[in-house]
Amino acid sequence: MTNLPWNRHHIISLADFIPAEYDSILQTALSFQGVLARRTKKVPTLQGQVVANLFFEPSTRTRSSFELAAKRLSADTLNFSPGSSSLTKGETILDTAKTYLAMGTDLMVIRHSGSGVPATIALEMDRLGVGVGVLNAGDGQHEHPSQALLDLLTLCNDLNPEQPSIEDLRGKKVAIVGDILHSRVARSNLWSLTACGAEVHLAAPPTLLPKAFLEAFSAPLITPTGQTIERKVFVHWQLLPALENADFVMALRLQKERMSGHLLPSLREYHQQFGITRDRLKHCAPNVKILHPGPTNRGVEITSDLMDDPKLSLVSKQVASGVAVRMALLYLMGGAKH
Ligand code: NCD
Repeated sequence: MTNLPWNRHHIISLADFIPAEYDSILQTALSFQGVLARRTKKVPTLQGQVVANLFFEPSTRTRSSFELAAKRLSADTLNFSPGSSSLTKGETILDTAKTYLAMGTDLMVIRHSGSGVPATIALEMDRLGVGVGVLNAGDGQHEHPSQALLDLLTLCNDLNPEQPSIEDLRGKKVAIVGDILHSRVARSNLWSLTACGAEVHLAAPPTLLPKAFLEAFSAPLITPTGQTIERKVFVHWQLLPALENADFVMALRLQKERMSGHLLPSLREYHQQFGITRDRLKHCAPNVKILHPGPTNRGVEITSDLMDDPKLSLVSKQVASGVAVRMALLYLMGGAKH
């Protein structure tokens, strides 16, 4: 387990995370990967603590992954579904959070379709001085830190299975292709990958990748020790320049539920221009690998055969990495409390 100090009480955004923190998370997650490979896949770390999963938006993998991670750490878990909750009777989100607080919740994992909801709840917890940590499990179009961190673990494991390290990401080319505009996954990955020295190439039609998008990432990251890290981000309105020599290609789902107005001529046309196909991967580096956070629109952002090709696709590894990374985050945040 890492010996580096950890002092984040909440994880809402990766915008100011520094390489030493990514390294702490990676090393902690790797040791939990060891636990998960054992016959008894459980440790007593969070015994007696309560982790509440407050998912105000639908989710399959993130929610199950957080629940399993908490259980593997021996925490008690509470699950919440908006459809069958008092929200339908007019209760506010903050009152829902306070209800879970009154039951003795120690850590809250929050997903909401509104950007900023986890941050608002974190502020309220701080105001109340209750020492409850809040972890953002995806808020609107803002961020999805645990997804980017599981992607980081997946990439580092792939680059150097013997001794994974964030150092291996330096100078690697990662193409992120698809609905960047609506993607919290893209935003969190941009922070983490660029902080670790990877070059990120974004590819999408201009309607899903406005030029102004880049502005947020134009300022360098300055670490507490005064190190300046320029974030290397490039925008392409065509697919091939992004794929050229790419070491990794991350396809994103077209988020139809977040699209207001007509941003694309048709899904067929999108696939013709930006769909990841076997043929197009010939432009990438010889050992290229594919990632997708899921859920997938098969045949739209990526072909079905690529998704299922174990030599090229890291998708199942991403899901597996998710449990170890979320164990690491809950462990580190649980520790930051005391
Ligand atoms: C993503 C999400 O919900 O932000 N999925 C996930 O958490 N694995 C991406 C998406 O919805 O397309």
